[in-house]
Amino acid sequence: MNLNDQQQNREQWGSKVGFILAAAGSAVGLGNLWKFPYTAGQNGGGAFVLVYFAILILVGFTLMLAELILGRHTQLNAISAYRKIKEKWAWVGGIGILASYLILSFYSVIGGWVVNYIVKSMTGAFNTADTEVLSSIFVNFITNPIQPIIYQAIFVILTLGIVIGGVSGGIEKYSKILMPGLFVMMVLIMIRSVTLPGASEGIKYLLLPDFSKIDGNVMLAALGQVFFSLSLGMGVIITYGSYLGKDENLPQSSFTIPLIDTIIALLAGLAILPAVFAFGFDPAGGPGLIFITLPAVFSQMPLGNVFALLFFLLVLFAALTSSISLLEASVSYVVDEWKMSRKKATFILSFVVFLLGVPSSLAQGPWSHIKFIRGLDFLDSMDFIASNLLLPIGGFFLCIFIGWVWGIENALKEATNDGKISFKLAKFWAFLIKWVAPIAILIVFIQGLK
Ligand code: PFF
Repeated sequence: MNLNDQQQNREQWGSKVGFILAAAGSAVGLGNLWKFPYTAGQNGGGAFVLVYFAILILVGFTLMLAELILGRHTQLNAISAYRKIKEKWAWVGGIGILASYLILSFYSVIGGWVVNYIVKSMTGAFNTADTEVLSSIFVNFITNPIQPIIYQAIFVILTLGIVIGGVSGGIEKYSKILMPGLFVMMVLIMIRSVTLPGASEGIKYLLLPDFSKIDGNVMLAALGQVFFSLSLGMGVIITYGSYLGKDENLPQSSFTIPLIDTIIALLAGLAILPAVFAFGFDPAGGPGLIFITLPAVFSQMPLGNVFALLFFLLVLFAALTSSISLLEASVSYVVDEWKMSRKKATFILSFVVFLLGVPSSLAQGPWSHIKFIRGLDFLDSMDFIASNLLLPIGGFFLCIFIGWVWGIENALKEATNDGKISFKLAKFWAFLIKWVAPIAILIVFIQGLK
C-alpha cells in the first residue's frame, strides 16, 4: 500500500465532539488529578496557577495547534508525518513515540494502584483518618512484589481492550461516556470539598497569587506541567489529529482542548486542596496526596466510602483515556509502517509495555535499592528519560520544524483549511512557534539537566 492509499483508507473520528472528547481525554489524566494539585501545593498555590496560565497560553496552545496541523496535514502517525514532509526529520516523531511508550510503562503501574484503591474503597479499607495507618496501607501495597503487578496487568488489559476497538469504535465511544462522567463526578467532589469547615483557606491558597513566590523553579514546574498535562511532545496529538477530517477548525480545537484540561485541573485542585486544609494536612505532601491523604479526608466525610469510590473511579477513567492515547501513538505507527493488523499490533505492544513496566513496579519494593540514572530507581529513571529528556527535545524540534523547516506559510494554509476559515491570531501564533515556544522549552531542558 502506498502513502496515498493509506491516507484514503484512514479511519476518521465519527463526530466532531468525539474528537474533542478523545483529545481532551488524552490530556486529562493523572497529570491533572494527581500531579497538578500537589505541584501547585509545592509551588506556592496561586503563584503557580498564575504562571501555569501564562505558559498555557504562550506554549500550550501554540504546540497543540502545531501538532494538530502536522497530524491532519499528513494524515499519518508521528514518525511518518515528519517523514512525509522532510525525510530526514522522521526521528523527531520517533522520539515522541518512544517517549509515549516509556511513559505508558510506568503510567500503567500507577494506573494499577488506582485500580487497587477502587477495590480497597469497595471493601471499606479506609474507615480511619489515621495517616499512619493509611500510609502503611499504601506502602504495604506498593512494596508487595506480586500484587501491584497483577493490578498493573489489569490496567494494561483495560487499555488494550479499548484500543483494539479502533478509532471510532473504541477510543471515541468510551471517551464519549467517560469524559462527561468524569466532569460530573469532579464537580460533586469539589462541591463537597469547598463546603467543608475551614476549606476557605485552601481556596485562597489555590486562587490568590502571592507574587513574591514566583521564581525560576515555579516557572519551570509550570512549564513541565503544561507539557505533561496537554500530552504534548509525544506524537499523541499528531496521531489524534491524523484522524481529523479536512473541514475541522484546528485553531478552535487547539483552544478548546487546553481549556477543558485546565478546567479539570482546577476542579481537581479545588477538590483536593480545600479538603487538605480543612483537615490540617500538608498541601506540599507530594505524590502521596491522593493515595494517603484523601482516604483520610473521605473517612471524615458523611458518605465517605461513596466519595472514595467515586473519586478513584474518576481517576481511573481519566488515566485510561490518557493511557489509550499513549498506546495509540505506537499502535498507529506499527499499523501504518509495518502493515500489521491493529489487533496484533495492540496485543504485542501491550504485552511488551507490560513487561517494561514490571521493573517500575518492583522498584517500589524488592528492587528499591537498584539505582539507574542519577541515583533514581527504575520508575523515576523512566520518567526522567521520557519527561525530562525526550519530551523537551521533541517539543523543541517540533517548533523548529513547523516554524523554520516546513514553514509558517504551509502550516497556516493547513490551519485555515486553505484559507476557508479565518484565524485571527495567525501572526501571533507564528511568532510564538518560531521564537517564544522554542526558547522557553530550551530553558526548561537545560534546567532539567542541571
Ligand atoms: N496528559 C496526561 C495526563 O495529564 O495525565 C498524560 C499523558 C498522556 C502524557 C499522553 C503524555 C501523553 F502523550
